[in-house]
Amino acid sequence: MLSSSSPSPTSTPTIKPSSPPPSTSLPVRAIPGSYGLPLIGAVSDRLNYYWFQGPETFLKKKMESHKSTVFRTNIPPSFPFFLNVNPKMIAVLDCKAFSTLFDMDVVEKKNVLIGDFMPSTSFTGNIRVGVYLDTTEPQHAQVKSFCLDILKRSSNVWTSEFLSNINDMWGKIEKDVAVNGSASYLIPLQQSLFRFLAKCIVGADPATSPEVAENGHIMLDKWLALQLIPTQSIPVLQPLVEIFLHSFAYPFALVSGDYGKLYKFVKIQGNETVQRGITEYGLKQDEAIHNLIFVLGFNAFGGFSVFLPSLLDSLGSNNEIQEKLRMEVREVVGSSPLSFELVKKLDLVQSFVYETLRFKPPVRAQFARARKDFVLGSHDSGFEVKKGELLFGYQPFAMRDPKVFDDPETFIPDRFIEDKGKELLKYLYWSNGPQSDSPSTSNKQCAAKDYVVLTACMLVADMFQRYDSITATSSAITAIEKAK
Ligand code: HEM
Repeated sequence: MLSSSSPSPTSTPTIKPSSPPPSTSLPVRAIPGSYGLPLIGAVSDRLNYYWFQGPETFLKKKMESHKSTVFRTNIPPSFPFFLNVNPKMIAVLDCKAFSTLFDMDVVEKKNVLIGDFMPSTSFTGNIRVGVYLDTTEPQHAQVKSFCLDILKRSSNVWTSEFLSNINDMWGKIEKDVAVNGSASYLIPLQQSLFRFLAKCIVGADPATSPEVAENGHIMLDKWLALQLIPTQSIPVLQPLVEIFLHSFAYPFALVSGDYGKLYKFVKIQGNETVQRGITEYGLKQDEAIHNLIFVLGFNAFGGFSVFLPSLLDSLGSNNEIQEKLRMEVREVVGSSPLSFELVKKLDLVQSFVYETLRFKPPVRAQFARARKDFVLGSHDSGFEVKKGELLFGYQPFAMRDPKVFDDPETFIPDRFIEDKGKELLKYLYWSNGPQSDSPSTSNKQCAAKDYVVLTACMLVADMFQRYDSITATSSAITAIEKAK
């Protein structure tokens, strides 16, 4: 049984966000932009978004032509086979308008995790798991509390499990670099992540189930891909991608065998955690198991699989950044065993992690539906939004809002240090909420907001305890210089 008494990362001091100025004080104007002719508008926007322009150029052009960070547009997936999916949305691209997505008084988050398109619930045992639940649905509080409790209880094994599994990854990387001159690290990283997260979240050791231990990460990759493909921009092999990947939803049957194996693994090996979900949080056995698989596979494994490579990519081959980070790690931590408490003392490492989350937000799009008619405030105008309209927030633009971040297009590793830098945390939104807020049952902020940041800090600190420098991209390591 895991103890809940060890230090939790949520004890990090936080800054309270200042409340936004009342939107009513702003001049109210009509939301610019249109959805075009029926079908034709949606198809044309879809082809531009995925194929001819890509999401960034598509949104930038509209933002420039409407001279507004808030405008109407279609966002795919859409026609022909997504007949029940409504692509009509209101894009919110500045930091202030984006924060409306966190105001649960005016927006709801029912079934809008990836827009109006929702993968079949057969991917999640015919259950709407926590991320699809609005805060007004009682099951949201049950599932979110269960998840927050899992994280709190696992905090004493989180560090040791992460470090021992990451140690295996570095072992494989070192071998490959020595033999081949470079190492593709995505597979070893995912293998390590799967083992670490299965232990910490499900309380289950994959070693007890050889097939899951060997292939668990691939099972999750396939299950994730089938759900997400219709919403992902894949900038190669057009028009094949439009025809075969963006025109219809893929059936769960393609991964049902794998999912069944994961279900059995969680049910048997994770029985203690499942039972807690039932007795302490009032979940049915099936609800506990499918939610655990989702948090393990989609939230945690999916999130880290995107974020950690982008963190290594930020280090790249930049000797200047690496030298400063290395100096801080060696001065503050030396060769002491790492802990949450220790990495919290690494101001520059934390700032570097925050800047990576700002510069390359791992989850680019967030959605929310207007709960009622309200006026949405951007920096200089108010916009009337009608009940039921869907808001599409695109982080890469909000996180480069020049009214909030100085020199927003430049990666500045120490942007978030000292009081002035820490003030900016209230505008860092990667977790679907300000970095200065805390996840709770009354919001939809990532349950692991602090764990994600501290785990990333741990990766950087551990790396500079081992190495003087590395040369990395978002998928490979091409040089390693061991610590002298
Ligand atoms: C780098 C890793 C991660 C990233 C980038 C990430 C990002 C996010 C984002 C953007 C959301 C909001 C989705 C939305 O409603 O629009 C979210 C929600 C959530 N995340 Fe994370 N996450 C990560 C890791 C984790 C981990 C490790 C866990 C749990 C152990 C977790 C648990 C959750 C849960 C339970 C929610 C739903 C919150 C709710 O329904 O109120 N996440 N995450």
